[in-house]
Amino acid sequence: MKISKLSVLFILLLMVACGPIILAPVTLADVERGKNRYKDLTVSDLEKGKALCEKMCVSCHKMKSPNSKTEKQWRQIIPSMARHAMKKAGGKVVIDDSSQVLIYKYLVTVGPLTKDKSIK
Ligand code: HEC
Repeated sequence: MKISKLSVLFILLLMVACGPIILAPVTLADVERGKNRYKDLTVSDLEKGKALCEKMCVSCHKMKSPNSKTEKQWRQIIPSMARHAMKKAGGKVVIDDSSQVLIYKYLVTVGPLTKDKSIK
């Protein structure tokens, strides 16, 4: 059977469009932006936050886009996800408080803060 180049292209496009959210590598611009909100933020904080997302936030559903929620929504959602994870693990802490903070700062920095007009 001959498959046209066009249909291969179409299938590839479909895979990209419906595939999981891929979190972009952390940049210095991210750190600068995040520092407007979290004074002592470091590259390492953001990288840890990203790694935690890639490890923790994909075990029950696909990664949600950092841009899909406001800062206030993330503040409520992260602890709620930590509770889901704890329940699933039979009461064991899976996403501890410090991890929640790193996840939250990362998601807000690469998500809603990029839309905040008062931040460069
Ligand atoms: C133990 C399973 C589990 C883990 C781990 C988990 N989630 Fe969820 N998530 C759920 C369930 C169940 C729902 C749907 C019910 C709800 O909204 O609470 C959900 C819903 C969501 C929603 C939609 C909420 C809304 O109101 O629109 C977002 C955003 C989300 N999760 C983000 C995350 C992030 C970020 C992480 C990592 C910190 C994460 N989840 C980890 C189970 C999980």
